[in-house]
Amino acid sequence: MKTLSLTRPDDFHLHVRDGALLTMVIAHSAKQFARAMIMPNLKPPIVTVQQAECYHQEILTALPPEATFKPLMSLYLTEATSIDEIKKAAHSDVVYAFKLYPAGATTHSDLGVKNITSIYPLFAEMEKQDIPLLIHGEVTDEKYDIFDRERVFIERYLVDVHQQFPALRIVLEHLTTAEAVQFVSAASSQVAATITPQHLLYNRNALFSGGIRPHYYCLPILKREEHRLALVNAATSGNPKFFLGTDSAPHTQTMKENTCGCAGCYSAFGALELYAEAFERAEALDKLEGFASFYGADFYHLPRNTDTITLVKSAWQVPDNYGNNEINIVPLAAGSTLQWRQS
Ligand code: DOR
Ligand code: ZN
Repeated sequence: MKTLSLTRPDDFHLHVRDGALLTMVIAHSAKQFARAMIMPNLKPPIVTVQQAECYHQEILTALPPEATFKPLMSLYLTEATSIDEIKKAAHSDVVYAFKLYPAGATTHSDLGVKNITSIYPLFAEMEKQDIPLLIHGEVTDEKYDIFDRERVFIERYLVDVHQQFPALRIVLEHLTTAEAVQFVSAASSQVAATITPQHLLYNRNALFSGGIRPHYYCLPILKREEHRLALVNAATSGNPKFFLGTDSAPHTQTMKENTCGCAGCYSAFGALELYAEAFERAEALDKLEGFASFYGADFYHLPRNTDTITLVKSAWQVPDNYGNNEINIVPLAAGSTLQWRQS
């Protein structure tokens, strides 16, 4: 049987929620990844180092007993974040980054930032402390078409932030457009990006294939095929600016299949298998290890992992759901066949 061994990967963009949902999903990520950058958009959000320490402990408690998974915490930026909190975060051994959500951009972003220039003093301090800024890069103004919001964000805000704070390490999260690939490629080595499995595997037709498909709805939304191809090229190029971040974002089936369904795709059940599918289709499986296991760690100045995981080429069908008596989650790619499986 064909096998593929990789240095154990890290997931640099992950939502694990809290409570019963956390307990249900965390084992999936811990089985594949050594570490993950944990998103802070809980309700209420994680805005202080102290809250991040509590949440970190909650995640460790929810892990299966044998797991060695390390959560890397991020803090949710608001207009009320203090310079002092940035200094504390920079000296903390659980917090690794700040996350910028433009207010209203996505799930639980209502307490995010309304006026980006008003937090420039915070960016200056983050630059000084050398703590990375992670960005959900979409404008929120309804006057912009939902398919243009990433491009407009880059033009209106990101270009200026990078220019004003050239030493600030920035990760543009979950890229979805050719323009974002272009921006990140052309920027200095302080700028990098994560790419999700859904944006590599699907274009926006997946949202409307034979009817409306809420389990393919995430933000930023899936784009046209030409954008998907640009993302596949970036991910498989061997350029260390592009690395793995699943944005696995579990919502219960009822919250997704709803008159106002939540944004988010659940991919942690088989994240590496989904990426392997995309890389194999691009005939670039040899580029998967750099993308999944090296470039993110290097960007964050973390040691590369030393153990390995193995995928075997053995087709399997993604289940229709994952869950227990309490919770039911429909995974990304439910019912479809994947070629690789973690052994
Ligand atoms: O689709 C998404 N879901 N995009 C995000 O930015 C947030 C995430 C979530 O937390 O559900
Ligand atoms: Zn996210």
